[in-house]
Amino acid sequence: MIKLEKVSKKFGIGYNALFDINLSIEKGEFVFLVGPTGSGKTTIFRLIIRELLPTEGSIIIDEWDIINLPKQKIPHLRKKIGVVFQDLKLLKDRTIFENVVLPLEVINIKPVEAKQRVEEVLESVGILEHRDKFPVQLSGGELQRVAIARALILSPDILLADEPTGNLDDDTSWEIVKLLSAINEKGTTILMATHDTDIVKKLGKRIIGLDKGRMVKDEKHKK
Ligand SMILES: Nc1ncnc2c1ncn2[C@@H]1O[C@H](COP(=O)(O)OP(=O)(O)OP(=O)(O)O)[C@@H](O)[C@H]1O
Ligand SMILES: [Mg+2]
Repeated sequence: MIKLEKVSKKFGIGYNALFDINLSIEKGEFVFLVGPTGSGKTTIFRLIIRELLPTEGSIIIDEWDIINLPKQKIPHLRKKIGVVFQDLKLLKDRTIFENVVLPLEVINIKPVEAKQRVEEVLESVGILEHRDKFPVQLSGGELQRVAIARALILSPDILLADEPTGNLDDDTSWEIVKLLSAINEKGTTILMATHDTDIVKKLGKRIIGLDKGRMVKDEKHKK
């Protein structure tokens, strides 16, 4: 469960990037976060992973009040939540395998187990054949799959995908959304930020709309 109550975020002395956001997402939901550029989508993601603290309000992830979370628990929170960043954040000088294995190395998983887990996840997102290539050798859609694989490697309960179809053609975008849907059907809660109104309409999932930092829509599932 993700719960934001009366959340506002101000950067510096400027206007509110987010204002009075009240939002509750249940385990297993698939939710689209839509809104024009600058409306606050990425800021919501950064608050949920506690990369930022809100100026006001509370954020609860499962049983955790993440604003008052002790520092040593932040890695546990981050393990619960996989993120596909808007700019992917893949390391250019490492292979696909090396990019995806990284979160496992950080927590000292045995290399044999890590290798097996990475191969499983690369297979599940359909890019195992590219494991030894470097990011520059892959297409945009393939790179999105790598970023999704890395986000899934620690089996998170929640997946945040920030415009995962941003630079892709229609067919490739649809493939990515189908992949996210399949991941959601296995139980992962998904929050996807997007500008792509066609996809949002076609999928019929819950839609949360932001405009200039305010929540202007919360449309429930249609299917
Ligand atoms: N670190 C920061 N410092 C100052 N202002 C910021 C910072 N991060 C975001 N903002 C501002 O907060 C607002 C919301 O930004 P955010 O990145 O959340 O928008 P977004 O909805 O993700 O947009 P896009 O669709 O372009 O990705 C914008 O006006 C942005 O300029
Ligand atoms: Mg953004």
